This record gives sequence, C-alpha cells and structure tokens, in this order.
Amino acid sequence: MSAKKRETIKQPVDIQRPPAEILYAAELDRLDEADRNEVRPAGWRLSPRSTLAFILGDENLNVAPKFVGKRSFLERCIVALATNRGLMLIGEPGTAKSWLSELLAAAICRDSSLLIQGSAGVTEDHIKYSWNYALLLAEGPSLQSLVPAPLYRGMTEGRLVRFEEITRCPPEIQDTLLSILSDRVMSLPELPGDERTLYAANGFNVIATANVRDRGVNEMSAALKRRFNFETVPPIAVLKEEIELVRRESERMLDRVGIPVALGPDMLEILVTTFHELRQAKTIDGKGLEPLSTPMSTAEAVSTAFAAGIHANYFDAGRMEPKHIVQHLIGTVLKDSTDDIKKLRRYFSHVVKNRTGIWKKYYEERELLED
Ligand SMILES: Nc1ncnc2c1ncn2[C@@H]1O[C@H](COP(=O)(O)OP(=O)(O)OP(=O)(O)O)[C@@H](O)[C@H]1O
Ligand SMILES: [Mg+2]
Repeated sequence: MSAKKRETIKQPVDIQRPPAEILYAAELDRLDEADRNEVRPAGWRLSPRSTLAFILGDENLNVAPKFVGKRSFLERCIVALATNRGLMLIGEPGTAKSWLSELLAAAICRDSSLLIQGSAGVTEDHIKYSWNYALLLAEGPSLQSLVPAPLYRGMTEGRLVRFEEITRCPPEIQDTLLSILSDRVMSLPELPGDERTLYAANGFNVIATANVRDRGVNEMSAALKRRFNFETVPPIAVLKEEIELVRRESERMLDRVGIPVALGPDMLEILVTTFHELRQAKTIDGKGLEPLSTPMSTAEAVSTAFAAGIHANYFDAGRMEPKHIVQHLIGTVLKDSTDDIKKLRRYFSHVVKNRTGIWKKYYEERELLED
C-alpha cells in the first residue's frame, strides 16, 4: 500500500450493478446472526451450511434463492473451498459460473471483489503484486512501494480470490498459482529478510472459472489441475426451473431500472422454451432439432427477457408481446454463424407453427426473422 494517504473513491449512490455482498447484505447479516453457534472453517464469515442457505435460499430467514442447481453439487463446491485445493468451475457459457463464484465469495468472505480477469495479456503483476515506480526509485523495494494485486490481498486478508476465465491466460501465468495453492506461500524476492515470504492467512483460497468453449482446460498443466477440485456447472435441466429463474431475474433487473413491465407466464413460456429447446437441440416432446453454434444460455435468456421488457416499455406503452421476444432473439442467435438464423427460422416453421395458444401469435411474428 502506498505510504501516501490514498483518497477513497467516492461511490455513486445508484450503483449500476452492486456486488452480491452489497445487494444481499441484509441476508448475509441474518445468516451470520443465526449462524453464531455453528462451527466455521478458519477464516470463514459463515458456516458451510449457511453458505449453502445463502445460495439456495432459506424461507425461515427470508433468504432468496439465487442459483438453480443441485444441492449435492453446491455442497461439493463449498467443501472444496475448505480444503487445501482451489475450486475450478467449468462449463458452457452462461451457466452462471461467474455468478456462483461471486455468491460463494460474498458468503464466505463478504468480499467478491478480489478478481483476476484471465486474458492473453495477464502478467504476474496483475496476479501477485507490482510496484509504485516513483516510490521504488525513491526508496527502493519495500512494503510501501509494493502495490498488492488480488492474490497478495487474498493471502494477507484471508479472502477468496476469483480467477475468471483462467484458461485464457498463457500456461506459464496460470502456473504462478502452483506454489501458492500447494504451499500457501508467495515469495517476494525483491524484499529484504522476513518480508520475502508471504504466508496465506486462513480463509484464503482460489475459485477459478473456465469456459469449455474457450481454449480448453486441456492446455492447463497437469500440476495445476491437481491443485484444483474440478466441478462442472451444468445448464439448467428442468424447463420449469429455468422459466422461474428467468422470471425472477428479469423482474429484478427491470425493477432496478424502474421499469414496471413484467413478463407474464405466456411470454416466459415462449421465450424460455425456445432457449431451452434450441440449446438441447431437442423439443420438449423429444423431437430432434438442428444444433445451433451459439450456446443459447440461460444468461442470454435473461438478457433477452430484459431487453424485451425495455423495448415494450419505451416503444409500446408497456405492453409485452411476442414480437418483442422475436426481435431480441435475433441478436442472441446471430453471433457466430449466419446459419443459426436459418435454423431459427426452421424452428419456427417446424415447431412453433404446430403449437397452439400464445405460440400462434409468436409464429405470426416470424417475418421479423427475415433479413
Ligand atoms: N443455474 C443458474 N442459476 C442462477 N442463475 C443462472 C443459472 N444459469 C444461468 N443463470 C443466469 O446467468 C447469469 C450469469 O451468468 P454468468 O455470467 O455467471 O455465466 P458464466 O457461466 O460465467 O458465463 P461465461 O462462460 O460467458 O462467462 C445469472 O445472472 C443468471 O441470470
Ligand atoms: Mg463467466
């Protein structure tokens, strides 16, 4: 930390996207209060049981569910963070790997901000520490001239560090984690004497995420793989659960921007069923569909619902109709390949066409898919 007193950042009152520990601060307080007699792993702010309740919800404590997934999978993720290995969440895009890692960090250490965003340009400086060069030149290397990066902070403060999209980093940068994860020690060779070795405080661990469609985890060194507990985050398998999640999330997002529109059950049904079926390349009654090259994730279904709500609010006096969904579907589908839009048209003419009720109105809007 710089010797000069740092000015604190003036935070806006209307934060666009508050992190989970701020958004759900009251829930975390309640869980903490109710949790006092439970045994917590050293350095944790909540017990594993309350961490699970924070993520899956707890009616008695008025804690909202935040993630749709199997309890056993979440228990394993939480346990992994109490072991001497890190947690690696892998999966398709938009399966809430980042969201889950944020929730885990918010519950376990009340801070999800220690984040390294993996990319080809990440260097050791971004991960461990760098220097305030003015102070370095004036005073030489010292704790004052050292500028901590997330791993240094996580180790000194006993917090979780989130390493997003780790496989996008060059392998030699990924391997920076080797001794840190196995020995829980970081060496600072520039510093004198005792200061050369930084031992991790209790509570420190790493949650990494990796997208299976990016450069794969196969390129990760075997040594590093052994230092992580791997967990695959699956897409939501049950349509009803996905509809409920999209309803909850899109309502929350629209509410945050002051839009009083909500997607009714009909709109949610056509939107989420379309995403669900195209993602699985199978209709709910088991007919095969052509797989799209784009993942059609739940995260995108939420964004599409959000966009459709905004559209209806500003251009159609708040009346949500199938046309809003069709228009915003195009932007989601048209990403990787123009073939995908043709496949979407065929989905309309082979599947949507044969359905009744609201699906008829949905089908009538198919011209919007023409270019
Ligand atoms: N199982 C789920 N539980 C809760 N939210 C989900 C789930 N699946 C998808 N979502 C939605 O996806 C959003 C978050 O997606 P997130 O960015 O975390 O995905 P990701 O797996 O990290 O994607 P990417 O691989 O693109 O980084 C959530 O805010 C939520 O709206
Ligand atoms: Mg992510």
